[in-house]
Amino acid sequence: MLFNTKQTLKQIVTIASKELDHADLFFGHGTDNAWDEACWLVETIVKANGTEKIEAEMTVDDEVLRQLQMTLDKRIKEKVPLAYLLNEAWFAGQPYYVNDKVIIPRSPIAELIKNRFMPLLKCDPGLILDLCCGSGCIGLASLMEFPNAKVVLADLSEEALQVASVNAEKHHLGHRSIIRHSDLFNSLEDMKGSFDLIICNPPYVGETEYKSLPAEYKHEPAIALLSEQNGLKLPIDILRSSADYLSTNGILILEVGNSWALLMDSYPDAPFLWLDFERGGEGVLALSYQQLRKYKF
Ligand SMILES: C[S@@+](CC[C@H](N)C(=O)[O-])C[C@H]1O[C@@H](n2cnc3c(N)ncnc32)[C@H](O)[C@@H]1O
Repeated sequence: MLFNTKQTLKQIVTIASKELDHADLFFGHGTDNAWDEACWLVETIVKANGTEKIEAEMTVDDEVLRQLQMTLDKRIKEKVPLAYLLNEAWFAGQPYYVNDKVIIPRSPIAELIKNRFMPLLKCDPGLILDLCCGSGCIGLASLMEFPNAKVVLADLSEEALQVASVNAEKHHLGHRSIIRHSDLFNSLEDMKGSFDLIICNPPYVGETEYKSLPAEYKHEPAIALLSEQNGLKLPIDILRSSADYLSTNGILILEVGNSWALLMDSYPDAPFLWLDFERGGEGVLALSYQQLRKYKF
């Protein structure tokens, strides 16, 4: 046992951080370094045991230390992302429930949401589609920015939709959320022409890239990451269908991550608007209804 009841939380965080740092781990599922991950681990477990206000010089009892040690061991030995061990991930400043049926929220689209998609949207959206919603973080965070909007949360995975539903209730947004089981747009036929905003972070990782990903990614559902045709199959299907579902002022925001270069090569004259991020991230494009109608993907 690394910890004892005489150590302060500050000392515990320092010890946990060193352990994480020296282990062969990948950081990128909610934090990008060992220190932040140690802080997140300690704060969440101490609070879950009934302490509301955390202070650096505080000490904790044996039971809390046992939970901390157990979680740290699992993170290091099995390389399980911390978010799954804590059943919590943060997105656009809010906590979401997660389990291993959804990927851990980390899309740079969070920054666009916090900026209310300025200057892309001409007016506030009425109906938003979060396609491939996973935990529902993108659609639900958007609802928080647009208080008069409703969202359709759609995913092929029933288990992911259960998580999205938990999150809609957690944030008191159930009455503004419609949950749809759908293979891309297949079960959304009744909503053609309705969406002022389609936001989609689909699977876009090709087989070869998938095999090379760090062990942490293998704890995430493969259905959430993998897409055929070197990652492009699902993004291209979405580009081909989106115009039918957008309103005439609508826009599509589509994340394709590392597959952006391949997509550009495949459609060199497409009018993609690649978005810049202050807080890091790339491979997110915007296209208007008019552009999607005109260009033949
Ligand atoms: C990359 S994850 C994105 C989850 C969430 N939007 C986020 O950013 O955290 C992709 C999601 O697409 C879903 N998915 C995979 N294939 C799909 C399909 N054909 N139709 C709808 N959803 C699909 C997966 O279940 C997964 O939840």
